[in-house]
Amino acid sequence: MATTRAPLPRFPRDFLWGVSTSAHQIEGAADERGPSVWDAFTALPGTVKDSTTAAVACDHVRRYREDVALIRDLGVGAYRFSVSWPRVLPRGTGEVSERGLDFYDRLVDELCAAGVRPVPTLFHWDTPLAVAEAGGWLVRDTAHRFAEYAAVVAARIGDRVPKWITLNEPAEHTLLGHALGQHAPGQQLLFDALPAAHHQLLGHGLAVRALRAAGAGDIGVANSHGPTWAASDAAADREAADLYDVLLNRLFSDPLIAGRYPEVIAELLGAEVPDLDADLSTISEPIDWYGINFYQPTKVGAPLADAAATEFAGLTLPPELPFSPRPISGYPTTAFGWPVVPEALTELLLTLRDRYADRLPPLIITENGCSYDGLDDQERISYLDGHLRALHRALEAGVDVRGYFVWSLLDNFEWAEGFAQRFGLVHVDYATQRRTPKASYGWLRQELLAQNAPV
Ligand code: NOJ
Repeated sequence: MATTRAPLPRFPRDFLWGVSTSAHQIEGAADERGPSVWDAFTALPGTVKDSTTAAVACDHVRRYREDVALIRDLGVGAYRFSVSWPRVLPRGTGEVSERGLDFYDRLVDELCAAGVRPVPTLFHWDTPLAVAEAGGWLVRDTAHRFAEYAAVVAARIGDRVPKWITLNEPAEHTLLGHALGQHAPGQQLLFDALPAAHHQLLGHGLAVRALRAAGAGDIGVANSHGPTWAASDAAADREAADLYDVLLNRLFSDPLIAGRYPEVIAELLGAEVPDLDADLSTISEPIDWYGINFYQPTKVGAPLADAAATEFAGLTLPPELPFSPRPISGYPTTAFGWPVVPEALTELLLTLRDRYADRLPPLIITENGCSYDGLDDQERISYLDGHLRALHRALEAGVDVRGYFVWSLLDNFEWAEGFAQRFGLVHVDYATQRRTPKASYGWLRQELLAQNAPV
């Protein structure tokens, strides 16, 4: 049953509204591109909960026109999608696939014709398999291959792209893909995964330079962030929470924004990277804005003595981790079991502003959303409504946030969860590929009409 809500407060006139997706999660047409680490990972038994793969997903490569029409009718001004590196360069380097580039060319044209700004992300976790087999993000060479790929994409669609994103959530990609092995490429290196973080950052800096050399501007990055709450005031819990906070909230943003690593990370990386200072100056190449993906806060404490392997939010965590996430009670939860805490978004934005002060670039929320089942998704409406009000409070407190993108336009392949978690404003029936806008889509459409109405 629909609840009556007060309209959202007014956002600035030029505030950028958008929706987000990523290539591997929606595109399908896997046989028309080179293989990625996710193809290899999902072919292994036990990696994806419902044993699905994204070979077809939302069949977006064939249905992109219908999807662009949905974006246009929603009334948002921008669409954040990702370019699949192995669709453009099937082996990650060398021979370019004209067919792959053509697809993004047509998508960008379709968006422009619909009056929607294309905002491509260059890397959303689908490393070409050939690049992974040569060492992937654990080796320095991958950063250079990534920058070359960025230049290829910019040469083809750069004339129509007003805003770029280099990487998506390097923190999650490092943690889940390289440290814990719950995402592709399935490595369980714990703290030895740090070089994968460093090389993604280096790849980002080199890609910023390559994009600028190709004439591109307005470049940002999308990182996941969320407040970390200590499980108690005990020193051991606070220390554990501080370390987790470094990994989630500072490992990427400190070097990108402030040009230095947190001390504990610099010590660990110093032994691996010969000239850290030179790399840091590439990594901190100025960007035009900084993107934040926000879903939930995390409560963290010292490792639990009796825990063999801790099950947490769908993850199996090894006992040797120096921290342990704890459940957050007293809040509603999404179908994924994630707590819904809108005020944590205000807290996060104020913390980032205080942490980086004048160095903080303008912010954009590049992802925010939730998984719920059903077409009458009133809970999603509450989630989005609550988070937009929380965002507005941060604006009122003077934080410079310029845009907000909902994750996601469509239900899609939610990585190790398969198709079970539905984050879309639009429902996808995977048997027929039929798209059906949910109640949340209608709600957002109305709100955006109200935002754009004359005062
Ligand atoms: C962040 C990731 O960028 C995206 O791929 C994922 O689907 C959402 N979080 C939801 O988990």
